[in-house]
This record gives sequence, C-alpha cells and structure tokens, in this order.
Amino acid sequence: MTDVIILNASPRESGNTHILCKECADAIEKTGLSTHIISFRGKNIKSCIACNSCKKNTGRCAIDDDGLNEIIDEIKDAKGLIVASPVYFGTARGDLMSAIQRISMVSYGGDRFLSKMVGGPVAVGRRGGHTATIQELLMFYFINDMIVAGSDYWNIAFGKAKGEVSEDEEGLSTVRKFGENVSLIINSLQ
Ligand SMILES: Cc1cc2nc3c(=O)[nH]c(=O)nc-3n(C[C@H](O)[C@H](O)[C@H](O)COP(=O)(O)O)c2cc1C
Repeated sequence: MTDVIILNASPRESGNTHILCKECADAIEKTGLSTHIISFRGKNIKSCIACNSCKKNTGRCAIDDDGLNEIIDEIKDAKGLIVASPVYFGTARGDLMSAIQRISMVSYGGDRFLSKMVGGPVAVGRRGGHTATIQELLMFYFINDMIVAGSDYWNIAFGKAKGEVSEDEEGLSTVRKFGENVSLIINSLQ
C-alpha cells in the first residue's frame, strides 16, 4: 500500500512534470509517508464510453485494456492523490482528463473511494495556461469530496525543454510546500 499516488500525465521521459512530481514526492517522503509516481508515458488511456457499467458497484471500469483499472486499484489503497500535467493549449493533457473522468465514475458508482482523499493539481508549461489548467483539474477534487492542500502560490512552474523547470526555484518550492501540506493533512487525519 502506498500513502500518496502521484499521476504524471506527461508522455516525456524524465520531463518537467516528472521533476515536479519528484520534488513533491521527496517532500512527502521526508515526513514518513510513501509515494508512487505513475507515469502515463507509453500508456494509451482511453475516454469514458458512458456504458454506465461502473454504476453497478463493480469497482472497475469496463475498459480493461489500458491499465487504468490497475491505477484505480492503487488509488483505492492510498490516502492521497496528486495529478500533474504539462499545459497543452492552455489546458491539461487529454489523457489525464480521460483518466480522472473514469476514476470519478468508478468512485461514484461504488464506495466513493475518492472521498476524503487529500491532494491537488500541479501544472507546468512554457508560458501560459497554467492557472486555467489548475482550475480545470480542481473540478475533479471538489466534486469528489476530496480535500485539497494549498501552498504559498498556485502549483505552477515554468519550463519548455526537458529539465528547464529545475531553474524555476519558486515553482519547485511551491510544489515542495504543497507536498508538505498534503502530508500534514494526511497525518492529522490519522
Ligand atoms: C502539444 C503541446 C501544447 C503545448 N501547449 C502549451 C501551452 O498552451 N502553454 C504553455 O505554456 N506550454 C505549452 N506547451 C509546452 C509544455 O507545456 C512544456 O514544454 C512542458 O514543460 C512539458 O512538460 P513535460 O516535459 O513534462 O512533458 C505545449 C507543448 C505541447 C507538446
């Protein structure tokens, strides 16, 4: 069982989203909680097909060939869930939206495993659309009765080429503090 699952929606290996996920994971692990960063690289996460089979409390999505059910199983055992995305045309990556819509449907149709989970979104981009991406991803948290941790800025960072985000010290420190707050809430709820 892992305490906090971090979804990294970037298709790039060791890209900027990964660097932010790692920064956040390290801050969480320093407090004694465990983390698992799950990369979407190489996956082909499909969109909800509105078959409604998850409404029969199956605890699973009917689309069973893209690895999302395995991610759902890990999330069910965790206390925290963080989603991190590169900004694509001012929004989150499409496959992350597909994933969180299907995760929401399975939670809604069953035992509401997302309820009271702690977390929040993280976004990285070259220049613009970060706050819109954060707002878009927050919709997932607020409709699912989740508890969102804050930081001393929004969880956004700047970088284009792989690794560039390492130069954004303010972005890194915002995400570190966010990770500490995720841990603080989880540990306070125990
Ligand atoms: C298809 C595409 C669309 C993008 N759109 C935006 C955008 O709207 N705003 C922005 O600031 N950066 C945009 N970018 C740049 C990425 O967000 C940026 O390179 C980011 O650091 C990539 O993260 P990664 O290394 O984790 O993949 C876009 C990149 C791609 C490939």
